[in-house]
Amino acid sequence: MSLVDAAREVRERAYAPYSRFKVGAAIRAASGAVYRGCNVENVAYPEGTCAEAGAIAAMVAAGETELVEVAVIADSPSPVPPCGGCRQKLAEFGRADVPVTLATTDGTLLETTIGGLLPGRFDAGHMDRT
Ligand code: THU
Repeated sequence: MSLVDAAREVRERAYAPYSRFKVGAAIRAASGAVYRGCNVENVAYPEGTCAEAGAIAAMVAAGETELVEVAVIADSPSPVPPCGGCRQKLAEFGRADVPVTLATTDGTLLETTIGGLLPGRFDAGHMDRT
């Protein structure tokens, strides 16, 4: 199954009663395993979590910390761009050249990379004063 199809499948399980905007994300980790996540909203709106965050949490919980490919899908007029926080979260676990596919449920694809989504990323090197 393609990574986009994995994201499409998990999107169906999104809990989005407030926005009614379901998002699915799938991550391929260095081992080749695929981890999935969907958005999980809350009546206290800021407590909701994005699909990308769910997929990253599943990857880390399984013992992996390096992602090599990402796909995100939503029923949107154009491929859904990850929010700023999720761009930073993805950058924590993936190199700048990691491919990211943004998809709509009706089949429009936009190919980018983690570096394309977050140029000039803040990383641990910026804290090095030695
Ligand atoms: N959302 C995601 O899960 N990922 C994105 O890339 C964009 C936005 C969710 C958060 C919220 O549950 C809903 O979409 C509307 O913002």
